[in-house]
Amino acid sequence: MKEELLEIKRVALEAIEMAGSAKELHDVKNEFLSKQGKLTAILRGMREVKAEDRPVIGALVNEVRDAIEMSLDDKQRYFKNAEIEAQLAAEQIDISLPALEIPVGAPNILEKVLEEVEEVFMSMGYDVVDGPEVEEDRFNFELLNIPKGHPARDAQDTFYIEDEKILLRSQTSPVQARTMLAAGGNKPIRMICPGKTYRRDADDATHSHQFVQIEGLLVDKNISLANLKGTFDVIAKKLFGEDVETRFRPSYYQFTEPSVEMDITCFSCKGKGCSLCKSTGWITIGGAGIVHPNVLRNCGYDHKVWSGFAFGFGADRIAMLKYGINDIRKFYQTDLRESAVFDRKED
Ligand code: DAH
Repeated sequence: MKEELLEIKRVALEAIEMAGSAKELHDVKNEFLSKQGKLTAILRGMREVKAEDRPVIGALVNEVRDAIEMSLDDKQRYFKNAEIEAQLAAEQIDISLPALEIPVGAPNILEKVLEEVEEVFMSMGYDVVDGPEVEEDRFNFELLNIPKGHPARDAQDTFYIEDEKILLRSQTSPVQARTMLAAGGNKPIRMICPGKTYRRDADDATHSHQFVQIEGLLVDKNISLANLKGTFDVIAKKLFGEDVETRFRPSYYQFTEPSVEMDITCFSCKGKGCSLCKSTGWITIGGAGIVHPNVLRNCGYDHKVWSGFAFGFGADRIAMLKYGINDIRKFYQTDLRESAVFDRKED
């Protein structure tokens, strides 16, 4: 019996050694340890073993079973590890592959232009102020020397909210009146007001019912067009480059006298003439003038003591020219591809 047991041990361990898969190992286990297994069969024969030999044979049976079980466990662990290894190898992540693109937005180009303009003016001591977009007729027109029924109102027809009294501001100029009234008529003023404006307009590539202006107002003593020209020159050079030149053309606004259009030499062709400047060599970027005495008076400033200049830039126009954007509507449509285009243009 002893020999039989040792033989079973040898054969079982060899079979375990040879097992090529978890399935084969399972079969080996059945072959030796199951109810019908070879080792179990031997145990049944214990009855025939002499009583004095039983402890020795019993111990040997246990030893053989332990050896077979231990060997089975080892091999099982081996197969389990191999399975995990194979799975890891199959599911390996290739870290050299490019990562998925995470879309990030870019600041609206118009916002960037405003920030740039604000920086330049702040460096010259100007305050950046805000005014309401829903405005009273009084500030938008009347205090600015545009009484009811004045033909100049036609060009700035806007969205009325309440009768003819409350409207969406058609220009940022009402902030001039608000600032002067708040200042109380006895202090100098230096302010710019960037902000949205509205007009009743049919939208197309160059017209929008909503656009952005940058208003400016300086009130002090003995202010002349020369001060305005100097200021405009500094701004234009900062925004468009040191080689840009500026000029005034006579114009007409109700709230300034005299009034001018502000032109810069075309930064694309440097004044030679191209499609951007329609072959003139010049680009108009806003209106300006010396604050009309009626406006100073309406807003609490003695026009015999105080004088000032005011201007209004078209911010959309500046941004479009500067960044080569061909449609004003792109500024308020939230198409991500556009911000990508904006971003690239800036590089
Ligand atoms: N508010 C004018 C417009 O919308 C622009 C403008 C012109 C503003 C002359 C001014 C100015 O302050 O002095 O057309």
